[in-house]
Amino acid sequence: MPSIAIFGAGYVGIVTAVSLAHLRHNVICYDSDLAKIHALRAGAPTIHEPGLEALLLSGLRSGRFRTTSLASEALERCDIAFIAVGTPTGPTGEADLTYVRQAAKTIALHANDGLLVVNKSTVPVETADLVARIIATHARTEGIRVASNPEFLREGSAVQDFFHPERIVIGVESPGDERKLRDLYASIDAPVIAVDLHTAEMIKYAANAFLATKISFINEIANLCGEVGASIDGVLHGIGCDPRIGTAYLRPGLGFGGSCLPKDVAALAHVARMHAIEPTMMDAVLNVNRRQISVAMRLIQEQCGDLDGQSITLLGIAFKAGTDDLRGSPAVALARALLSHGASVTVHDPYALPHARSVLGDEVRYAFELTQACDGADAIVVATEAPEYAGACWEQLRAHVGSALLFDMRNVIDPQVALEAGFSYYGIGRRGGRQPVAS
Ligand code: UGA
Repeated sequence: MPSIAIFGAGYVGIVTAVSLAHLRHNVICYDSDLAKIHALRAGAPTIHEPGLEALLLSGLRSGRFRTTSLASEALERCDIAFIAVGTPTGPTGEADLTYVRQAAKTIALHANDGLLVVNKSTVPVETADLVARIIATHARTEGIRVASNPEFLREGSAVQDFFHPERIVIGVESPGDERKLRDLYASIDAPVIAVDLHTAEMIKYAANAFLATKISFINEIANLCGEVGASIDGVLHGIGCDPRIGTAYLRPGLGFGGSCLPKDVAALAHVARMHAIEPTMMDAVLNVNRRQISVAMRLIQEQCGDLDGQSITLLGIAFKAGTDDLRGSPAVALARALLSHGASVTVHDPYALPHARSVLGDEVRYAFELTQACDGADAIVVATEAPEYAGACWEQLRAHVGSALLFDMRNVIDPQVALEAGFSYYGIGRRGGRQPVAS
């Protein structure tokens, strides 16, 4: 079994590390953040991710998962080192590669001959070349190789996605590197797509850009449905029956958020511009996405009138359901838009309230119970697809609100249920038209 080092204990790094340990590899996770290292060593996951704690604990128990804040310890007798650090958005939309550069240099300074350095961070095409150059400059030995292995994990189902991926993409320069990476994932039942380094890097961006395009497309269609009195549910049913279209990843809402899609589309547009290609599609995808918060605000204001002094309850503050992550959260953008119009905002979320506090501070009120969140509200806005909201007892909640306006900005509530509970219900693109009848 090869010994593996993972550089970066963020969401990708930690999920990859404990999952590889579960596949019986010896894994050590390096991070310079001592608080993270101590928490992980104590068996406390640093992010909310279903299944992560159990894998972390069993990895620690078996000794196959270890942590360190010393790069020299991480790379001692190491065969494969993954770079899994953050690549935030830079000032002009480009991916900021500061942490990738740092990791590459650190690895180079401590690497042994024959080490395979694998980039897992989402990075622009040609970053593998950059990593190779940094390694060549700082390494003590010449036998270090570079590969790419982009990840397709979704927050909230990352562990499940790791063990049951649709594909494993590896970008390699030699049959030997390919064999090493194939062996690493040998016990996972998924097609392995082995390509060159640039193609592997491009696959990752193209995948996220396409997903983002689907969301912006359906949001634009849903907005139009709202205006012309058609039903987006009916439209989705109608177009989704065509297998060339389908229904996956076409749920309208507040736009795509998170730490990946917005950043990666912007970075891809930046790469295109660097190569003198006008990223017309990517720009449009981002523009539609930015506009989605004003679409929601217009709908809310049309029904509530002047928001000054009104009490609005926001159900869901994470960037999507099932996570505690607020990065790029459309719900946070909506909260800020509501506050800027003078509304007082109460926030509820099944997992994200502690993080919400560090982002929104005292600007909003926090409610740990749904009933408490809805108490006296002039309007309720559902901002994530959390099952807690879709399946809430709206009849019971109706008794707690001051006014009966319900804005379902993720189209997760059955309009009929809301109406029967006594709410005036507004979804995205659900203003008119008949709901589709399931056959
Ligand atoms: C995304 C990709 O789905 C993963 O394949 C990829 O590995 C990951 O980025 C990454 O690059 O690391 P993630 O950011 O966890 O995963 O979230 P998604 O489930 O893709 O959702 C992104 C955003 O789009 C969320 O705000 C979500 O609410 C929104 N969304 C998603 C919609 O508005 N409609 C949909 O139909 C689907």
